[in-house]
Amino acid sequence: MCRKSFTHTRRTTHGCAVFADDFGVDCRAHPAMQTLIRPCARPALGLTSASSPKLRGCGTVAGKCGPRFGSRMASSRVCAANASPAATVEVALGDRSYPIYIGHGLLRGGDLLRKHVPGNTALVVTNTTVAPLYLDRVVANLSQGGDIRVEVVVLPDGEEHKNMEVLMKVWDKALETRLDRGTTFVALGGGVIGDMTGFAAASYQRGVNFIQIPTTVMSMVDSSVGGKTGVNHPSGKNMIGAFYQPRCVLIDTETLGTLPDREYVSGLAEVVKYGLIRDPAFFQWMEDNVDELMAREESAVVYTIERSCINKAEVVALDEKEGGVRATLNLGHTFGHAIETGIGYGEWLHGEAVSVGMIMAADMSERMGWMDKRILARTVDLLKKFNCPTEVPAEMTLETFETLMAVDKKAANGKLRLILLKGELGNCVFTGDFDKQVLKETIQAYVKK
Ligand SMILES: NC(=O)c1ccc[n+]([C@@H]2O[C@H](COP(=O)([O-])OP(=O)(O)OC[C@H]3O[C@@H](n4cnc5c(N)ncnc54)[C@H](O)[C@@H]3O)[C@@H](O)[C@H]2O)c1
Ligand SMILES: [Zn+2]
Repeated sequence: MCRKSFTHTRRTTHGCAVFADDFGVDCRAHPAMQTLIRPCARPALGLTSASSPKLRGCGTVAGKCGPRFGSRMASSRVCAANASPAATVEVALGDRSYPIYIGHGLLRGGDLLRKHVPGNTALVVTNTTVAPLYLDRVVANLSQGGDIRVEVVVLPDGEEHKNMEVLMKVWDKALETRLDRGTTFVALGGGVIGDMTGFAAASYQRGVNFIQIPTTVMSMVDSSVGGKTGVNHPSGKNMIGAFYQPRCVLIDTETLGTLPDREYVSGLAEVVKYGLIRDPAFFQWMEDNVDELMAREESAVVYTIERSCINKAEVVALDEKEGGVRATLNLGHTFGHAIETGIGYGEWLHGEAVSVGMIMAADMSERMGWMDKRILARTVDLLKKFNCPTEVPAEMTLETFETLMAVDKKAANGKLRLILLKGELGNCVFTGDFDKQVLKETIQAYVKK
């Protein structure tokens, strides 16, 4: 028996507390955000958890900050044949705005997917790992009305295949099967597939319709939203690409059932990031709901994805092409990229490196005297509870860090800028104005040799 589903669209309204002194962006000054700076004053997220015996609210103001789990729990168990989202988040980009649908079993039925396919053809792009798990569902869903011809291309799995040579297979397939400008490319997979398919769609016949179906935590909470697409070049990650927004993002949380633990928790590191840079109530909610998240409890997972998407959507709406505030989404990434490259790509997952990178950024912020050390302790504690790494890999040295971080510096006209935390939890700066000695001391405190 199906329960009645519950759909709610949340406008991207809550506050972001970013001081972006180096590029003069202060999104707290945004009129729509003035009243929303205090975490628990956010109307969109000021929910009550009283109806949920299992999930705990943030506790900042008793009973006011937890999610509305009573309805969410009911809504997340959907009828397979008529799946409707437990939550919908809107990415507000004028005529390129789009919805992010979140719910359990969304791929099994319903017309959410088909209604975003305007023409009568679609090309599903996936990989050898995801295809045996979810491809049938997506093809069946698209084919349901009998009016869409569905083509498929299955790429090899892995970051090492995120390149132009493999991307060519997508265009080959599209041309072989005579897909015209009215077609829709559908990305089914993690961030690698999403980034590649988006870029393929951006340039096929000068741009065709594009849909994201992310199947990893990382891609659900981060990469599928915001339109960054692309492939790697031998001389750098994501060096070739385009900003190209999807027509919709469809997140079926059921797909997380097959995601390996390591991938799952690595995605949670990016979720912690939103709490640190702009959403302290969410950070506290995560602290209060670690067990539920580690158990992948449906309602906690839906809420985590929803709130992450709201945060990402707000930042993207303010700064689509990363002229300013969007850079704050890279908290911990300069340290993290140095780790990923230093130990060799593929050794650590991206989120794992970001986990340690965020701790280093928080530590440095504390050493600068910019924030209270309790924030650092809470960050380490939360990431530890999520089983994310909190220590730098043994092979990393001060020299490796300095050399590899200089690559980011080169990319930014010779000035290394970092995202650092400043003030209360939920505030950050993107700045080159920091004491270089403190950076060195921070790295020294983390390297083992
Ligand atoms: N565009 C952006 O804004 C943005 C942001 C962050 C990261 N990224 C990119 O995203 C990529 C990382 O994404 P990722 O972490 O999703 O990695 P990924 O795409 O490599 O997926 C991780 C692994 O999980 C497998 N997988 C995917 N879904 C699964 C499922 N439901 N069950 C079982 N296995 C599954 C994949 O096949 C792969 O082996 C990087 O290339 C990174 O550059 C892009
Ligand atoms: Zn990242």
